[in-house]
Amino acid sequence: MKIQPSDAPLLNWTGDTLALGLFEDAVALTGDLAKLDQLFAGVLKELIAEEEFTAKAYSTIFTRVTGSSSIRKVILVGLGKAEALKAETLRRAAAAVARVAKKQKSKNLGLSFPLWNNDSAATAQAIAEGTQLALFQDNRFKSEPEDKGIKIETIDLLGLSGQEAAITRADQIVSGVNLARELVAAPANEVTPITLAETAQAIATEHGLQLQILEREDCEKLGMGAFLGVAQASELPPKFIHLTYKPQGTAKRKLAIIGKGLTFDSGGLNIKGAGSGIEIMKIDMGGAGATFGAAKAIAQIKPDVEVHFISAATENMISGHAMHPGDILKASNGKTIEVNNTDAEGRLTLADALVYADKLGVDAIVDLATLTGACVVALGEDIGGLFTPDDAIASQIEQAAESAGEKIWRMPMEEKYFEGLKSGIADMKNTGPRPGGSITASLFLKQFVKDTPWAHLDVAGPVWADKDNGYNSAGATGYGVRTLVNWVLAQ
Ligand code: BES
Ligand code: MN
Ligand code: ZN
Repeated sequence: MKIQPSDAPLLNWTGDTLALGLFEDAVALTGDLAKLDQLFAGVLKELIAEEEFTAKAYSTIFTRVTGSSSIRKVILVGLGKAEALKAETLRRAAAAVARVAKKQKSKNLGLSFPLWNNDSAATAQAIAEGTQLALFQDNRFKSEPEDKGIKIETIDLLGLSGQEAAITRADQIVSGVNLARELVAAPANEVTPITLAETAQAIATEHGLQLQILEREDCEKLGMGAFLGVAQASELPPKFIHLTYKPQGTAKRKLAIIGKGLTFDSGGLNIKGAGSGIEIMKIDMGGAGATFGAAKAIAQIKPDVEVHFISAATENMISGHAMHPGDILKASNGKTIEVNNTDAEGRLTLADALVYADKLGVDAIVDLATLTGACVVALGEDIGGLFTPDDAIASQIEQAAESAGEKIWRMPMEEKYFEGLKSGIADMKNTGPRPGGSITASLFLKQFVKDTPWAHLDVAGPVWADKDNGYNSAGATGYGVRTLVNWVLAQ
């Protein structure tokens, strides 16, 4: 499928399916739209009236038409109120169009949408992102592809001639999002610490990044007792993965992005019980998925910033070698941790990853982790939690997420709650009381970052969707990639 700008005026465009974006309260067809409708013998006007189409955001109507030399199908899509238009509205409306076009077996789709913010590049990028994200289909584990037969071959963006670069930018970002989706959706017998390391290797080779993999012995030398404690019951070797993107010239800033990389979380000896969602715990590398997806995108975009992409990848399993509840681990900054719950393993792996990132001397660290069910209880499935003591990085992330259309909400890092992690025998416990569980998890992480500005994103909810929503289909969403890319590009 190829997305391209089109120079053709609306009335001269040729292709089998034309999609028109309309604003709420402005569905009366005027100008070129009225002329087009005349060509189709007024069927659009009739349909709008009959269906009482009001162009509510993302609502669609479809019809077959005759009268034009090539156009056989028309999709009308609502864009909501003109004054409320956002790039995200266009992304989602384009996704709605793409879904209808796919269902109706369109081959050559043309989209005629109004500009957002008078910005042709941003408009083209949003439409290209929305269509491609919506058309993503994961057939890896099906013996027969689900989308056999007629496929969309070309998508023309009308009125957006000259916007090839914006479309390329969308392609680069979408390739990162779809990598994250594939990594998260693949089960734990497919995506292991080993295959995550191989994926990092493939990104490094394809896009020219540096890669360092620390094996178990290397991690031992660095004193990563917290990460290795989690890893010790797995039959698979842990992999501490570190990809580096360096710009051609001098880097303006140095950043680190860390992703929780639990390729499966059984809970350990505090095994996940009934109703705990153990069967979905392949998603517990969603942070790593977003990190590597962002690496793939950033390596192609090539900003003037140095970025380190890090994941301490392992499984949380049970065996005779498993951590006992109550074991005391020592992290690489010398702090000791009483593991009062082996299911709070993500923070243990992140502890050593944060210490490692901090030692790189970066200007800022962001971690993404499917860290707590408590965050899902607090914010629901669609919204990520943002935890940071630093107001500046908080607003950077909020802006990056807002323009990505990825929902995020800042949570308080109430220092007093750290009392819940007091241990009688070690420097801290790894879990506190149930109330405020996502906050104590963040306060735990904070013990492993010195003074570097740092933000933690708890993405346990939004990395996975139960049903189709906008450009996300049920399943892995690739949440976080676009926020990370925006954040890096804004530096
Ligand atoms: N991986 C889970 C968190 C999670 C929950 C991710 C739901 C995705 C969906 C994490 O390792 C975990 O088990 N957290 C525990 C912490 C508790 C033991 C303090 C939880 O949330 O129950
Ligand atoms: Mn767990
Ligand atoms: Zn986990």
